[in-house]
Amino acid sequence: MAGFDLYGEEEKKSVMEVLETGCLFRYNHEHLREGIWKAKELETEAKKFTGAKHAHMVSSGSTAVTTALASAGIGFGDHVVCTPFTYLATIEAVLWQGALPVFAEVDESLCLTGASIEAVITEETRAVCLVHMCGAAADMESIMEVCKKHDLILVEDAGQALGAFYKGKSVGLFGASGAFSFDFFKVTTAGEGGLCITDSESTYDIMHQISDHGHSHVGDNRGMEEHPIFGTNYRISELNAAVGLAQMKKINTILDNNKANKAYLKNLLSEIEGITFRRMEDPEGDSATFLNFFMPTTELSQKVMAQFAEDGIAGFNYWYTNMYHFINQWDHIKELRMPFKMAIHHLGAPQDYSSLELPKSNEVIGRLISLGIKANWSEAERADFGAKMVASIKKVMG
Ligand SMILES: Cc1ncc(COP(=O)(O)O)c(C=O)c1O
Repeated sequence: MAGFDLYGEEEKKSVMEVLETGCLFRYNHEHLREGIWKAKELETEAKKFTGAKHAHMVSSGSTAVTTALASAGIGFGDHVVCTPFTYLATIEAVLWQGALPVFAEVDESLCLTGASIEAVITEETRAVCLVHMCGAAADMESIMEVCKKHDLILVEDAGQALGAFYKGKSVGLFGASGAFSFDFFKVTTAGEGGLCITDSESTYDIMHQISDHGHSHVGDNRGMEEHPIFGTNYRISELNAAVGLAQMKKINTILDNNKANKAYLKNLLSEIEGITFRRMEDPEGDSATFLNFFMPTTELSQKVMAQFAEDGIAGFNYWYTNMYHFINQWDHIKELRMPFKMAIHHLGAPQDYSSLELPKSNEVIGRLISLGIKANWSEAERADFGAKMVASIKKVMG
């Protein structure tokens, strides 16, 4: 699943290069850095890999989503269609922007769809913050169609989906801007870090300016540049970027390993009657970080999870009751618990979050089990894990 599976000498060497110059800051200071530009080089690699015209690294996936929303012009009072199945960071980013989340249903694709977005559109709807959950792309065809029809701004939170493509195009490039996470658990890690991408130069300019106090980054005299806008500090340090760069150079190996391991385990699971799999909108473009499967009922999923625990098999996520990735665990957000007033406290929530019913999402996530695929399994380890997994499930399914 994660880049840390293949963490090694390359990451250490990359960090040491930065430590030896002492230039831990990503901008300027040419006299110190001896030609070493880790954040810049990582952005170049990210552009090559995704095909984006512009890439900008920030301090985390969370700040990347905030930056992506900001650079797309999403702000105070904007109604943004959101998914109830994501890491909290997506919803927090919308709220930090002063925008108002409007929840729509996910289905077996684990993502919003064109139809589910359209079902919640009102006069006030301005944007969609789409999440490509668990390593694979949403149904971009129907989503793009609805966004065009209703003139909605699309921002993609691809926090879990670096390496996922839809019909040959990287996620994150379908809308105004896209965001990825480089935290410790992601396909490539920087320890902490985030990536924003876009094909628009003016959007990119806002990305790098807003995440560094509005500096224009023109010229070589740090701090003496113009400030076209104001912003804040979401900068990535050269140390994190050094790790991220070494990892980015391994991304194809990580993805290849994930794909082989996932295909092997999926094949084993396919033989158990009653198990079905996440609907893949583009199977070729799957990053294969997760093997997502459905048991026939929520009750059976919970029994299988209990059996895995009893048999001592780790690596599965049951998002319905833990992990904070599903709306049924977001009481603090539904109750807008915050020590100060944000836009949503002034403007009011666009839906009554406490009584909101999302029956489809509830049914789908209740049945979903996600296995994090390891990129460093040997064939023997993979076979052993697979046999144990199947044996556990069969104890429940009979
Ligand atoms: C979909 C999604 N968006 C954003 C984030 C936030 O990333 P980070 O942990 O780097 O802040 C995550 C983290 O898990 C995520 O899964």
